Amino acid sequence: MALFLCFFIFLFASSASACDSCVHQSKAAYFKNDSPLSSGACGYGSLALDLGNGQVAGVVPSLFKVGAGCGACFQVRCKNSTLCTKAGTRVVATDLNDSNQTDFVLSSKAFTAIAQKGQEQQIVKLGIVDIEYKRVPCDYKNHNLSVRVEESSQKPNYLAITLLYQGGQTEIVAVYVAEVGGSNWSEMKRNHGAVWDTSKVPQGPLQLWMTVVGGYDGRMIRIQKEVLPADWKNGVIYDTGVKITDIKQEGCCDDGTWP
Ligand SMILES: *[C@@H]1O[C@H](CO)[C@@H](O)[C@H](O)[C@H]1NC(C)=O
Ligand SMILES: *[C@@H]1O[C@H](CO)[C@@H](O)[C@H](O)[C@H]1NC(C)=O
Ligand SMILES: *[C@@H]1O[C@H](CO)[C@@H](O)[C@H](O)[C@H]1NC(C)=O
Ligand SMILES: *[C@@H]1O[C@H](CO)[C@@H](O)[C@H](O)[C@H]1NC(C)=O
Ligand SMILES: *[C@@H]1O[C@H](CO)[C@@H](O)[C@H](O)[C@H]1NC(C)=O
Repeated sequence: MALFLCFFIFLFASSASACDSCVHQSKAAYFKNDSPLSSGACGYGSLALDLGNGQVAGVVPSLFKVGAGCGACFQVRCKNSTLCTKAGTRVVATDLNDSNQTDFVLSSKAFTAIAQKGQEQQIVKLGIVDIEYKRVPCDYKNHNLSVRVEESSQKPNYLAITLLYQGGQTEIVAVYVAEVGGSNWSEMKRNHGAVWDTSKVPQGPLQLWMTVVGGYDGRMIRIQKEVLPADWKNGVIYDTGVKITDIKQEGCCDDGTWP
């Protein structure tokens, strides 16, 4: 187990040096119609717009990280102080937008939230603005980490789940499932975005084991109690009873000045 953990720390130390909690310069556009965000690449479906109170974004591949970046939170502010507030706003990544001009395509709610009062029409007219952004922890006060059983699941041979309300500043990089009390762990694979699946579905009530990384740290979160009941149902969201609050540990760019 200790060896396993070391392996993960070793494996992820190099990718962590990308240092994504530094302040980055880019541009942001917005979705005139937010429906792409609820059919977004992270697989949150209609729940996407509930995350971050509708302040969500499609992000570039370097932030999307083949799905590991789903659910990450960013503070985004536009650089024109006439048009925009100093603090900007906090958005949750729920989609991929492969644009070479913008790191973020914001929901219209998030886009107008970066504007000064009275400047909303102005910024919408521009359509694209210079921004600064940095990764920040997500804070879901009213939610524990939760598991939604996807409609594509087919008992007893196929289980697909989406991980919701992932707090802190972390990425989930591995998920295993086993019967409560058992030790025959099935490895789940990332199907897409925040959706994980397996065709080796243990019987009975199910426990989960996840590897969560933040910066140079990797840790296992083992939820030994029942997460899914034996009669788990498609479309139902199950509360894991745990919160992930880990903050990224990286010393390369401790930016104390913003936000
Ligand atoms: C800010 O935006 C306003 C309105 O579009 C523009 O007139 C002004 O030149 C901009 N300021 C800067 C510093 O870009
Ligand atoms: C990316 O964002 C632009 C808006 O800037 C939008 O027109 C386009 O449809 C988006 N692409 C995808 C794949 O969602
Ligand atoms: C961005 O991509 C478009 C086509 O997708 C291309 O025409 C344009 O030259 C690219 N711009 C830059 C700055 O790479
Ligand atoms: C472990 O679980 C898999 C899938 O649920 C099953 O096919 C396999 O036989 C189990 N192995 C043992 C040793 O119980
Ligand atoms: C989160 O889980 C704890 C148990 O660990 C539980 O007491 C609490 O009610 C849960 N919170 C929510 C919002 O469901």
